Amino acid sequence: MARRKLVVGNWKMNGLRAHLPQIAAIGEEAAAYPSVETGLCVPATLITMANEVKGAAFIGGQDCHAKGNGAHTGCLAADMLKEAGATWVIVGHSERRADQGETDSDVAGKALAAHAQGLKVILCVGESLEIRDSGEALSFVLAQLEASLPEGAASDWLSIAYEPVWCIGTGRIPTMDQIADMHGSIRNALVQRIGDDGNAMRILYGGSVNAANAAEVFAVADVDGGLVGGASLKVESFGPIIAAAAA
Ligand code: PGA
Repeated sequence: MARRKLVVGNWKMNGLRAHLPQIAAIGEEAAAYPSVETGLCVPATLITMANEVKGAAFIGGQDCHAKGNGAHTGCLAADMLKEAGATWVIVGHSERRADQGETDSDVAGKALAAHAQGLKVILCVGESLEIRDSGEALSFVLAQLEASLPEGAASDWLSIAYEPVWCIGTGRIPTMDQIADMHGSIRNALVQRIGDDGNAMRILYGGSVNAANAAEVFAVADVDGGLVGGASLKVESFGPIIAAAAA
């Protein structure tokens, strides 16, 4: 099944007004590769400003609360991200699972809250190095997927990002065989869970994607794009990744 490649930058806790020209340049690069769906998930404080310069890129948030609103100091509800101009949101990133103690059921709730506001969702899963070394990576990730994927998940609003924790920001990436194994297993699990639409759901790879490895990673079966951290902060490093997805 042909799936449009999706390349998303995750700016994490980086980005001030001074970085808007980078967003504009990335938006221009996105326009040059219309076959690829390109976006940037920026800090919430930048969403409104980023929207004004985003060109052909979409702007997303990096998390939302599972509740509509209320007494949750410091948190953001999905309708707030939407009002600011986000059209997508990442949920369940491993840094939030680790730093904020988010559970699989929290992540499923966040995905549903985002969808209720019409936001598209990138739902992250991935194993630690300890789990990879123990030989349990596949079963761990599939269990995490099963418990994090909300009821009613569908390919037109939700994509998966497989991000091995040991590859995030480390410069390490799995072998292409390991990526193929994991993505193939996620694909099977999606089809089992949601039927045919599981074949249409995009599965991104994330973790140390860069201009040098993107083409090889994107050529792996069932890799439908990437979630890119460090290399998405500058057009010089992100542009070639978008181009690799278009090839
Ligand atoms: P990285 O981060 O590309 O800097 O490894 C990826 C991510 O955490 O989404």
